Amino acid sequence: MKTGITIHPLNSDFVAEVGDLDLSRPSRVDAVKEAFWKYAVLIFPDQSLSEEQHLGFARHFGPLETSIGVYRTDITLRMRPELSDISNLTAEGDIWSQDSRIRRYKTGNRLWHTDSSFKFVPARASLLYARSIPPIGGHTQFADARAAYDALPPKTKTRIRGMVAEHSIFNSRARIGFSDWVEAEQENLKAVPQALVRNIPESGRRSLYVASHAGRIIGMREEPGRALIDELLAHATQRQFVHTHRWRVGDLVMWDDRCTLHRGTEYDDLRWRRDMLRATVSDEINSCEREGIDIPEEYKKSPNVKQKAGA
Ligand code: OGA
Ligand code: MN
Repeated sequence: MKTGITIHPLNSDFVAEVGDLDLSRPSRVDAVKEAFWKYAVLIFPDQSLSEEQHLGFARHFGPLETSIGVYRTDITLRMRPELSDISNLTAEGDIWSQDSRIRRYKTGNRLWHTDSSFKFVPARASLLYARSIPPIGGHTQFADARAAYDALPPKTKTRIRGMVAEHSIFNSRARIGFSDWVEAEQENLKAVPQALVRNIPESGRRSLYVASHAGRIIGMREEPGRALIDELLAHATQRQFVHTHRWRVGDLVMWDDRCTLHRGTEYDDLRWRRDMLRATVSDEINSCEREGIDIPEEYKKSPNVKQKAGA
């Protein structure tokens, strides 16, 4: 009798499909973890998961995060706060309207990012599950930030070692012209520091840690800092580092937020329903702390800096 899971790599060390595993009753989680640390993106096709089962599998990888949707006072959440709603639907299940705030806000997912780098203790892993998908468009692209780091010129590696970037959801949303935040969001989502280069303990690999949430480099003037962030983002998302996932209903895709970037691609969101749920688990500590870099003085008093894992 076959008891093992099957790993089918899509390339040498970035993305793999996992077969012979029913995530509603996960077994061999040790083997999944081993594959996850090697590949950073895992695809589990043909799943059928309740919200509880989805969260139950996610919990094996760390403390569950709460969606920042809880700060919105203007909408009703379609699901429990441990799940992020990655759909184009209202709480009533209708397709959102053309100029709704939530539609404008979620366009930010089309920018290259990594989840929750704007939280002091950022995400470790995200698990996105497809309940319905558009027939065309609406793919998700992933970039391998470890391979991107490896490919940097040695001079750049030396230059960026020990650098800290400031991350904020306000930065990424400013890039798409979105700025109408409610007060609770302004208070709870203040900018946080993150190391620009991370060591991933489980694989021993080093990775770039950049996202469109990054706005400046601590200790650099605004403009050259921003230019460096944009340059690193452009470097990391070159096609040789990128994999495009074309969704099927029932896919659960899981990625390591510490060493990958991702973005959603366009689709006709006023015509097709795209219903996805994301469970996110947090890391244990802030990336600067992890790298042994002191938290810059200016952030020490920030309320977010006291945030604990899973918040
Ligand atoms: C996410 C995300 C992109 C997409 O779920 O965190 O950015 O394709 N998704 O929906
Ligand atoms: Mn995301």
